[in-house]
Order: sequence, then structure tokens, then C-alpha cells
Amino acid sequence: MNRSWETNDLAKADHQHLWHPFTQQQAWCAEEPLIIVSGSGATLTDSRDRCYIDGNSSIWTNIHGHAHPKIVVAVSQQLAALDHTSFLGTTHPKAIELAERLVHLLPGAPLPRVFFSDNGSTAVEAALKMALQYWQLRGHPGRIRFASFSGAYHGDTAGAASVGAIGDFFDRFSGIHFQAEHFQNLEELKSYSHPEELAAVIIEPLIQGAAGMRLWPKGMLRELRAYCHHHGILLILDEVMTGFGRTGTLFACQQEEVLPDLLCVAKGITGGTLPLAATLVTEEIYTAFLGTTEEQKTFYYGHSYTANPPACAAALASLDLFREERTLDQLQPKIAHLSESLQSLRNLPWVGEIRQCGFIVGIDILLDPKLHFPFPWEQLTGAKICTAARNHGLLTRPVRDTLVLMPPFCITLQQLDHAVEALRKAILEVCAY
Ligand SMILES: Cc1ncc(COP(=O)(O)O)c(C=O)c1O
Repeated sequence: MNRSWETNDLAKADHQHLWHPFTQQQAWCAEEPLIIVSGSGATLTDSRDRCYIDGNSSIWTNIHGHAHPKIVVAVSQQLAALDHTSFLGTTHPKAIELAERLVHLLPGAPLPRVFFSDNGSTAVEAALKMALQYWQLRGHPGRIRFASFSGAYHGDTAGAASVGAIGDFFDRFSGIHFQAEHFQNLEELKSYSHPEELAAVIIEPLIQGAAGMRLWPKGMLRELRAYCHHHGILLILDEVMTGFGRTGTLFACQQEEVLPDLLCVAKGITGGTLPLAATLVTEEIYTAFLGTTEEQKTFYYGHSYTANPPACAAALASLDLFREERTLDQLQPKIAHLSESLQSLRNLPWVGEIRQCGFIVGIDILLDPKLHFPFPWEQLTGAKICTAARNHGLLTRPVRDTLVLMPPFCITLQQLDHAVEALRKAILEVCAY
């Protein structure tokens, strides 16, 4: 089908009326946008009928593939039965069932209370506000500060941004935020002189995404848990990227047998189909908020679309799929195959470190990897490589000059090899100019 007239009109209207996230619009409007019109399994198709492997799972969200029939049916049926109802003052069966299922994903249900919101940022925002209010209610108003780590990314709402530590994103807005200290690593945090002022420590467990897929040293998370226990500080785990199997286990924290006090999940919770997030907390935190009206302990936080029923139905269907399709078992050989396939990139002269954590890969592109010498940042080498990869059937997006590969779990071994080969060709095309 020749849809080019449609593409031209859509492109023009996009350029006239839209403002895209994390995007320099001047450059965006200088080129025809990629207009995605359909998705199926691990692939996406654009308005000119070109097909791509979804190499970053549509910004780290997709799990079982696009348009999985089970999720499509579950969402359609729910939409017909109940599209939306307020979660302020009413409840509904799908949210109740989902909460029950979520809390039992961790053995023994150590985080038995679920607070729903809409996205990763709001899951974190809620966790931070809960932590501050928890200490006020417990009679420790001096615990007013958060600790996070250099390179951290926890979202873009003001609270979540205050614990983020990526200068380009957040420096401009510093000063309007929660009080937060950013530490290079656990050793530096341990030498902090006022742990009694910390309400909570927040961390992306095992791997920092927006920092460029940076891995934490093995055992660090467990040590951090011990540090927090020792000083009575709450531990918030941001599993927005890592949750729902991305690192090879359902949650990243399970690999170090660590339990947080608050757990933030989003992205993959619906299989990557609809916006939904959850903050799971301990019973101890929850009960601190109980009281009479006069005691004023209520957690005043929420959004209009909290626990949207079709989103909850999608999440339930996604959890069913984990069981029915044995998603995590099926993923293990793919993780191993991906490691092998990546070997073909190692001898390219611009490829530095290749980091893998389960089904997440970060590939550093450098002018001189031996000397750790980067390409000038303003050349946007990583972005150029990803654009070049499109011509070889792969869609992904870098973090600066780190190429990201984290496809939907349903990807075939053949598609995995194709994705890596697309990156190899694109690196050669862009770097060997
Ligand atoms: C670790 C982490 N936390 C929070 C967020 C924010 O999630 P959202 O974009 O859904 O607001 C992200 C997004 O990439 C993330 O990677």
C-alpha cells in the first residue's frame, strides 16, 4: 500500500503542532519523523511500510511483544465493561485482583500494600512523599533528606527529579526540589556525617539505566540494605526499568536477596501496553498513616487515572503470560545467546565496554576505547549510529554514546542476531567515515 501522501501530511502536522519529550525540536523539525503505525511481536512498522525490530522495547516498556492477543482481548473486554472510575472513593475488581497478585510476587508478601499511579516518575514521587510523611508521623521530622547516587535517574516530576543526578536533565531546576544528597558510591555514602537526617536512600538496583546502563558492583545492593538497616533509613528500590524480568529475574533485588521498604514499578507492569505504576510498601509504613480525621495522617496524593481499569486488566494478563508462556524460563537461553552474539562487536575499533545485565545491554562507543577517549559529545555519534541502524531494520535509542539494546522478551534468536548485526553495520558506517 502506498501511504506516502498520508506520511507527508502527518509529518507536516507533527512539525506544526507537536512538542516531543527529550527532543531538540529544531533538529526534529528538519527531518521527516518516523511515524510508527503498527506493532506485532518484537517488531514495529512505520507509515512507509518499513519494519523494524523494537530494539529498546519502546523505551524499556515492552515485555511479551506488541499486540499480544491475550493482552489485547483483556483490555478490550475491560474497556467494554468499565473504562474508568475514580479511585478516590470507589474501587474496582481489577485493581483489587492486581494488588493481591502484585504483593505475592515477592515470596511471603513482605510489601503487602499497593499504591497505584500512572508512570515511573509518579511511582517514585509517591514513594518519596510517603517516606517524608512517614518520618513526620513517626515523630522524626528531622529525617528530611534523601540520598541517591551519581548518574541516577528516577523520573521528571519535581520530587523524582530532585533525587536524579544527571546534570543535563536536572541542574536547571535545582533549588525547587526536595533536599537530596548525591553520592558517587556506597563508600562515600557510608562516610556521610548525618545519616540521622536521611529519610530514605533511593537506588536503581543492579543497573543504572539513564546513566548509560552502568552496573553496580556485585553485592553492593546487599551492603546498602545493611547500611540502611543499621541507620534506620528507609530503602526505596526504583525497579521502573528493571522490574518484570528485565534483568533475568522478576525483580532485580531478588538477585541479591534484598527487600526494600518501598518498591517502585511501572513500564513493564502492563507488558508495556498502557500507563500504570505502583508503589509497594511495608505494613509498618502503611500503618503509620492510619488515624482519625483530626489526627491528619492521610496521604494526600493521587491522580485522576489512578488504577485505570483497562491498564489493570493489561497488567493481570501480562502476569498470566509470565506463568502460561514461562516467560522467564524462555528468556534465559536468549540472554545467553545475546551475550554470544555481542562478541561480533568486540573487535570493532570504536567499541569500548559492553555491559549486559539480563536482557539489557549497553555498548560504549568511543573514539579511542583503549585511551577511554570519547567522540566529541556534540557530534551525537550514538544517535547517528541508531539512525543508521534503522536502514538495517533496527530501532533503538542511545544514552549519549552508549548504544542500548533491550528488545521485547518474545524476540527470536534470529531476530536477536539481526539486531546485533544491524548495530555492527551502523557502527561501521558512522565511525569509519
Ligand atoms: C529507573 C527509572 N525510574 C523512573 C523512570 C521514570 O519513568 P517514567 O518515564 O514512566 O515516568 C525511568 C524512566 O526511564 C527509569 O528508568
